[in-house]
Amino acid sequence: KIVPVIMAGGRGTRLWPISRSSRPKQFLALAGQDSLFQETLQRVADSDQFAAPIIVTNDEYRFLVAEQAQEMGIELGAILLEPAARNTTAAILAAALYLKQQDEEDQLIYVLASDHKVKADAGYQEAVKLAANCAQDGALVTFGITPTEPATGYGYIKQGDGLANGGHKVAEFVEKPQLERAQEMLHAGGYYWNSGTFMMPRDGFVAECEQLAPETHAAVSDAVAKAASDLDFVRLDKDCFEQAPDISVDYAIFEKTDRAVVVPSAFSWSDLGSWDAVWKVGEGDAGGNVARGEVTLSDTKNSLVYSDAGHVAVHGLENVAVVVSEDAVFVGNLNEAQRVGDIVKRLKGRE
Ligand code: GDD
Ligand code: MG
Repeated sequence: KIVPVIMAGGRGTRLWPISRSSRPKQFLALAGQDSLFQETLQRVADSDQFAAPIIVTNDEYRFLVAEQAQEMGIELGAILLEPAARNTTAAILAAALYLKQQDEEDQLIYVLASDHKVKADAGYQEAVKLAANCAQDGALVTFGITPTEPATGYGYIKQGDGLANGGHKVAEFVEKPQLERAQEMLHAGGYYWNSGTFMMPRDGFVAECEQLAPETHAAVSDAVAKAASDLDFVRLDKDCFEQAPDISVDYAIFEKTDRAVVVPSAFSWSDLGSWDAVWKVGEGDAGGNVARGEVTLSDTKNSLVYSDAGHVAVHGLENVAVVVSEDAVFVGNLNEAQRVGDIVKRLKGRE
């Protein structure tokens, strides 16, 4: 069976002030009944296909993870706790090494972000199967999404030669390009967005980390070897884990490896990464406004207005994001909502 590994330790700062460091976006119901993390659990709940999922998260979120899984009646394989945030290379590697410690025999790992909105239709199932076939042949597989705009918050994958198993070699992987480069790639064609979801042979991934990210490999190996079990949790050793560099798997591995394969994927996918993305997946009114909570709009177009606290009225604006939480308000240009992350960096301690 394939082992799902869910990365649930991100801070979700670009969705401030609804997403907070104490309760980041993956644990919120931003577009639906359940939280995005719970929706992710559901996508891998088929026990014929998948083993119980491994969750890797920050120590702070351990109860959110345990409670939200319990609410869904989903049994977890393990909850690995990071004593500090060291990004996705360390998170995924910790899960891979933990699994290896439990069972010598190699397995496929299906690495998922915990905060994406995905429609798990037939096209999705097909992509997962194809990815598993490619990973079985030794590839580190990423799911490629057809780009629709020159987004700068995603990785770009250039499709290379086709393989007999239906995947394509990755000719080039460019993580988070500048706008100009993103425009060039969109214009040139033949590029996909990296969905941030991966299918990989466990031991093949570990071997690539050992070679391409040796410092991370050394630190995380020690942190897993010295991990302590604590009730339902596995605590990675603090002193060792903190030695790991803070680098994402995209920069550390996918930009460098020559074992990467892309599976072009036709399913509907969105990283609800910023308020404009939430606006795009939301159900708009006749004026293109997406609203939640007690909201009154007049002469307002193509805007996102969210209130979790009190009544909000907006008049005479276009393309704005107005987001109100219990104790903070964000107002900004919806097209530049990606920049919230920069503002949050300045809030130190109040994020
Ligand atoms: N456990 C753990 N620890 N999880 C983490 C950490 C960490 O330190 N940092 C991030 N995550 C989780 C987030 O919660 C999210 O589910 C996932 O890992 C990806 O992290 P993001 O921070 O959301 O990455 P991104 O959106 O900027 O970029 C990635 O995803 C894009 C698509 O959404 C990259 O893979 C891009 O190439 C890709 O296009
Ligand atoms: Mg993301």
